[in-house]
Amino acid sequence: MELRIDRQALVPVVQQIVDALAGWVRHNELMPGARLPSARHIARVNLLSQSCVVEACERLVAEGVLASRHRAGFIVAVPAPVSQEQQDCPWFEGADFKHGGAAGELKLGCGGLPESWRETDDLSYAIRQVSRTDMAGLFSYSTSLGLPALRQQIRKRLELLSIEVDENRILTTAGGSHGLDLIVRTLLNPGDCVVVESPGYSLLFDLLRLHGVQMIEVPRTPLGPDVQVLQTLLAKYRPRALFINSFCHNPTGSSLAPLVARQIAQLTKTHGVLVIEDDVYADLHSGPGTRLAALGIDDHVIYVGSYSKTLSSSLRLGFVVAGSEVISRLAEVKMISSMGASRFGESVLACLLASGAYRKLVQRQRLRLNTDRQAALQVLEDAEWEVFGKPDAGLFIWARSRMSDYAQVRTQARRFGVLLSSASAFNPGGEPGDWQRINVTYACDPRARAFFQATALNRP
Ligand SMILES: Cc1ncc(COP(=O)(O)O)c(C=O)c1O
Repeated sequence: MELRIDRQALVPVVQQIVDALAGWVRHNELMPGARLPSARHIARVNLLSQSCVVEACERLVAEGVLASRHRAGFIVAVPAPVSQEQQDCPWFEGADFKHGGAAGELKLGCGGLPESWRETDDLSYAIRQVSRTDMAGLFSYSTSLGLPALRQQIRKRLELLSIEVDENRILTTAGGSHGLDLIVRTLLNPGDCVVVESPGYSLLFDLLRLHGVQMIEVPRTPLGPDVQVLQTLLAKYRPRALFINSFCHNPTGSSLAPLVARQIAQLTKTHGVLVIEDDVYADLHSGPGTRLAALGIDDHVIYVGSYSKTLSSSLRLGFVVAGSEVISRLAEVKMISSMGASRFGESVLACLLASGAYRKLVQRQRLRLNTDRQAALQVLEDAEWEVFGKPDAGLFIWARSRMSDYAQVRTQARRFGVLLSSASAFNPGGEPGDWQRINVTYACDPRARAFFQATALNRP
């Protein structure tokens, strides 16, 4: 049994053995009771220490994949019934649940950082601080715009992106999704027509559909939306709004080039089109960049931010920046529909922003992402996948296999315990495609490597 352990990888060797053994059991479709080769044999064949192999097997016993038999070594366990909690486990927007979704699968197509990347020390400290010193933070409603101390910190961070606004134009929300929801339900009507990027964020498409808003598609290029096509669409359809995910775009990983930003600002102003700039991945991008909001927040541009991708997806923290009239309309709907955002979360975030802990956290994340992205691009190149632009920041690479069609890619993914994104989720019209959103933080896991290698072997 060859496990293909990579001693240079950042993933610890025992974890790699765990993953490889679990993959081997799944791949060979072993029945409960089937015996594993002895730990001594596995160690000898793979040049590993026997104690590492035994430790990995014991972890798999704890996970319910293996069982141990006195004097008989390890055998494949009888699978436990899947609990509701486990079924929920692999959820991410755009996941290919039709063809995967078992607990323990590698979420290669997922839209966030793995839990192992999240850092708890500063967050736990801020949570304790708020619990000990801020009774209102623990028990009270927040204000309609959100805590002033938090909005002040958000304003300072926006200044670093050259977005100059006063705090009364910042509205806190329960994540970027809440911001988008407030905007769509407050400012758009059923039958309105808007421009969305293709490919783009799947839950935005669902939200617009839910509200009966018509979508027209502008192709996303590695530099941003295709300006020529946009110009034609604005003149032909006179849409109400343009939704754009400017930096570290979901799903392509691309970021808006300064020239394209200026052209879009000009075009949308000329045609009187509202711009909703979704920049929820902003803090994963460190290079210079031109936000549409930096070219002037007035009633023409609305900016959406979030802390889900960096600090915590669970705390549900985000914000919207807009002209004062729009902000008061959004604040009213926010209060009617939710009585405000979580004051506790707002206080915790304000504390992390004020202490500088958040700034250092995102610096570390960006460095780690850069390393993983380079490694992932190499893995894809080795497997001869086609890559859409080469992103220089963020979580995503958009790529497709040159060797295998989508059905073969999916079959290989299942064999290696890899959960892909769905073939149609990122397309506003819902048609299937063969491009995949690859999350760089998962792409070098041994299961992903084995999957990519296998797709390259299907050469016609
Ligand atoms: C482009 C885009 N916008 C908005 C969101 C929603 O962010 P949040 O988790 O803060 O609600 C996401 C989440 O994946 C996203 O990718």
